[in-house]
Amino acid sequence: MDQIVIRGGQRLKGRIPISGAKNAALTLLPCALLTDEPLTLRNLPRLADVDGFGHLLNQLGCSTTIEGSRPEDFGRVMTARTTTLTSTIAPYDIVRKMRASILVLGPLLARAGEATVSLPGGCAIGNRPIDLHLKALEAFGAQIELTSGYVKAVAPGGRLGGGKFTFPVVSVGATENALMAASLAKGTCVLKNAAREPEIVDLCNCLVAMGAHIDGIGTETLTVEGVDRLHGATYRVMADRIEAGSYACAAVITEGDVELVGAKADEMEATLSALRQAGATVEETKTGIRVAMSGRAEPVTLSTAPYPGFATDMQAQFMAMATLGKGASLFTETIFENRYMHVPELARMGCDIDVRGRSAVVRGVDHLVGAPVMATDLRASMSLIIAGLAAEGTTEVNRVYHLDRGYERLEEKLQAVGADIERISAG
Ligand code: EPZ
Repeated sequence: MDQIVIRGGQRLKGRIPISGAKNAALTLLPCALLTDEPLTLRNLPRLADVDGFGHLLNQLGCSTTIEGSRPEDFGRVMTARTTTLTSTIAPYDIVRKMRASILVLGPLLARAGEATVSLPGGCAIGNRPIDLHLKALEAFGAQIELTSGYVKAVAPGGRLGGGKFTFPVVSVGATENALMAASLAKGTCVLKNAAREPEIVDLCNCLVAMGAHIDGIGTETLTVEGVDRLHGATYRVMADRIEAGSYACAAVITEGDVELVGAKADEMEATLSALRQAGATVEETKTGIRVAMSGRAEPVTLSTAPYPGFATDMQAQFMAMATLGKGASLFTETIFENRYMHVPELARMGCDIDVRGRSAVVRGVDHLVGAPVMATDLRASMSLIIAGLAAEGTTEVNRVYHLDRGYERLEEKLQAVGADIERISAG
């Protein structure tokens, strides 16, 4: 398994290109199942999860071709075409490795009137149920059966009807599955208390480009008037607001000055507000967002919440930034039940963090000391990179396959702004 080795102490200075958003790509890719025409996605990030999703689509009968791109380019162009489905089954061995595979459930049900998808199981950050996905689809007429670890969904008569569903809890994935299923329903589907993340807006905009009729885009009430068929489209994946926020935290902890090229301020206002709370200079530029810092970060008090609140996917990275800050920062994780896996690893580097249930107090220390640490999940592994960039000495991050799921060519992007970082392949 590869390792990333960082020799801390370098201030990050320069421009970091922000890639296409992983969490947008993973809901745009299954849209290719909704039509027999080609869907071309531009600015697709080179990520393990994107590759994994492409393989799943292939298993279902969707052909995927990647347009040639120069090695130095970030992002790729993929054309996906499902002329005919050859399977409506998403098997356990794929779904257990990549939870986002559950996002083929809605499209398969809409396209073929049936779907058999493995229950994804839990992951490091929580048990991650999918009950809301299933309840939303049932509200649109789906008959759902759970047998031997699989969800078997059928649309009576081969097509979902209209319906209404109010989410008791905001769920990004359930909103995405429901939207894709509703786009081909016979009737109107209304989703209330729907997720409003920018990735949901990206999905809606792509579906509309394919011929879907969706009202309320960007709000918590989405009204979808089903159509008989969708056509192909060419769509550009939005910039990754979480990647951008992650590198912003790295700039702050190293007292650097970076431009996040391609980042959109209006998609990450809570993150930018938290960076300003920490004392960073944050300003929009013609090509992105500049984040600069001198001195230690001010203490922050942050509680994660659905968009437009402070993103749970940014919690670990801000916590790493706060470890060298002044005073004490307070974090409260309200979305997932176990999203502090980075804490024991950060503690190995000398951080002073006290976790009490859903909250964690981070007391700034004078310095961090590099150490061998282990990544446990995607955003936790980024928090270790951030801490390692500012630590004295060498930090070795193991199990970097977690990082490769969500950060395109991370070490190249950081090397280009002065970090002393390298990937050591284990062969
Ligand atoms: C998406 O996960 C993202 N993943 C996550 O990013 C992100 O943390 C999360 O949304 C919240 O923003 C992708 O988009 C691929 P949820 P998702 O359904 O859809 C509960 C990353 O690091 N819930 O919004 O799985 C759930 O347990 C990843 O990039 C149910 O109870 O998240 C959680 O407490 C990690 N029943 C809350 O809702 C359900 O049926 C929010 O989960 C579904 C969810």
